[in-house]
Amino acid sequence: MLEKINHVGIAVSDLDAAIDHYRTRFGVEPESRERVDTDGVEEALIRAGQSYIQLIAPTGPDTTVARFIERNGEGLHHIGYEVDDIDATLAHFKAVGARLIDAEPRIGGGGATVAFVHPKDGLGTLIELVAAGSGHGGGDR
Ligand code: CO
Repeated sequence: MLEKINHVGIAVSDLDAAIDHYRTRFGVEPESRERVDTDGVEEALIRAGQSYIQLIAPTGPDTTVARFIERNGEGLHHIGYEVDDIDATLAHFKAVGARLIDAEPRIGGGGATVAFVHPKDGLGTLIELVAAGSGHGGGDR
């Protein structure tokens, strides 16, 4: 069920500054940059081998990521686990009583099929299930 870490999401207040940070530290450029209005974020994907660093910046003060940064400051926001069959994984999560944010898969950044699991059900870490082969890390973006 747990194929690999698709991406690690880091909440940042200034996306340009964060991209520049990775550029000066690691000499890398984002593979993509995208505004995802349904999530209230602008995100940039930086490849790290077979996985990605997803820098996510809020598009406005009334967004979940803006509130996250207000509470916690910039930093680790979520981990995206890649799963082969997201429908089967969600069905399993429901069966074991997991606390889900998304009861059904939805389309996230990069056109990926995703579903979020509540941090209270993720040992304090927000978890994003990412359907293998969809969107980021699918190899066909
Ligand atoms: Co993500």
